Formats: sequence, structure tokens, C-alpha cells
Amino acid sequence: MVHSKKHNALIVFHAMSNQNFCDTITTFSKTIPSNLITQCVVFDSLPSTNSKAIQLAQSGNAEGTVVIALEQVSGRGRFTRVWQSPKGGLYCSLILQPKITPDKATLLPLVASLAVSQTIRSYGLCSLIKWPNDVRVHKKKIAGILLESEIITNKISYVVLGIGINLNTEIHQYSPQLQKSITSLYHELGKAVDYCTFFKDILLTFDKYYSLFQNNNYERIISEWKQLSDTVGQRVKILTSSAEIVGKASDIDSSGFLLVSTDTGELKRIMSGDCLHFSEL
Ligand code: BTN
Repeated sequence: MVHSKKHNALIVFHAMSNQNFCDTITTFSKTIPSNLITQCVVFDSLPSTNSKAIQLAQSGNAEGTVVIALEQVSGRGRFTRVWQSPKGGLYCSLILQPKITPDKATLLPLVASLAVSQTIRSYGLCSLIKWPNDVRVHKKKIAGILLESEIITNKISYVVLGIGINLNTEIHQYSPQLQKSITSLYHELGKAVDYCTFFKDILLTFDKYYSLFQNNNYERIISEWKQLSDTVGQRVKILTSSAEIVGKASDIDSSGFLLVSTDTGELKRIMSGDCLHFSEL
């Protein structure tokens, strides 16, 4: 890092004792005026906050429990990928019990990515969303979202929403392979962001969009999501578990599925997959 002021900010951040910092977050979380959050459980290090939140949900913890870790040693991404989670990033998982039918759950990735992207934008960065929920700045991934749920007899028992944000991390903290495709708020802004304030901002923004979702305000969510999407309008290749679909991403529908007009003139409706933009290949 060339600029010493930038470097100092990060040294101060990383130098705080983990125990003190966990206590600071726990105390601070109680002051967040959120309708959703009921308890915040903070760990110095965890294998994965999603795995811990799933355990807590299965042992009866209700909607509003948040698990945070200062680092994860086995952070999980979509499609069983590893989510590299060095110290300085923000890793949290929230237990949700939305009062919806499971078919509406496909909109939750949009709700979450919209909240994360809007929060990052409020820090002055032009964050956009690559379908379904990769949050990026200058085409580089800055945050990821992993939703895991348990549905029993067509009723959602719980959804765990995991959010990983490259907050106060430096690019060299990630593997060489990943360094080309990721960025962090610290790297983009040139200074460290206050962890607790950012955490509060994320929770309150999510709270707002989750309320819209619970109140069936799906059109507003989809319309705002589309404004932040850099996938709609692009020529894309989508890799699903069973197929490779190439065409133009024309829209998303009311379930959050991506609509792709293929070169053979078909309109494919895609629920989940890995999305590549041809303009970036
Ligand atoms: C992705 O883009 O592949 C999703 C990444 C999700 C990472 C977060 S970090 C907090 C939570 N705990 C995990 O193990 N994963 C999610």
C-alpha cells in the first residue's frame, strides 16, 4: 500500500484485540434500531457463519438472530465454492422466517443483493448486481450472498441469509487466482470503513427491503433491482446444473428468474445458474 494514511487506518483496524472487537460489535448491535434483529451472536472465528446460523435455527432460534464472525476458515459460496474470508471482511448470517409461500422465496436473493448493493452505493461506490446476486464494483466482486433454507411440507421452516463483504481487506489477502476478479471497499475508497457503522447500514437497509418483501411489494423490489442490474441487456452465457444457455438477457420476471432470448429464438426462463457476461470474457 503506497499511501501511509490509508495503511495506518487498516493497521488500527486490524490491531484491535479480537475479544474487544467482538464485545464492541455485540454492544453496538443492541443500539441498532432494527425491527428485525433480535439478537446478535459474535465470534472471533468460525468455520462458516451460515453453518452456525443453520445450527441455531435448527435448535429453535427464531427470525432476527444474526451470527457474525471476524473471519471464517471454511466460508462457503454458491455452488459449493469456497468463500475466502480473511480478517477485515464482514461475514454475517441472518435467520429469517418469512411468512410467504416457498414459490416467493426465489425473490429473496434479489431482496438481499439490492440491500447490499444500495448500502455499498451509500459509501459512494458504483455498485451493480450481476444476476442473480453478485454485487460488484467496476465489474469486480465486492460482496456475495448465500441463501440456504429448510422447507417442510411446502412451508418454510427457516431461511439463512449469508452475506460476505470485502470490507476492510487488501487484495493480497486473497489467493492469486481470486485477486484479478475481486475488490474491497478499502481498496476502492482508499481508507478503512467503520465496521460497526457499515454493519448497521446493511441491517437497516435489508430491514427496509425485507419489509417491502413481507408486504408483497414485489414490483418495487424488481424495479429497483433492475435499475442496479448490469446483466439485463447483456449477451450472456448461463451455466446451469444441466445446460449451457447462450443469448441476450432480456429481463427478469416476477419470480426473479432471468429471461434469456437464445440465438435460436427461444425464450428461456432460468431460475439459478452461473452467469457470464460475454463483454467480459
Ligand atoms: C457467493 O457469492 O458465492 C456467496 C458467498 C457468500 C459468503 C457468505 S460469508 C457469510 C456466510 N457464511 C458463509 O459460509 N457464506 C456466507
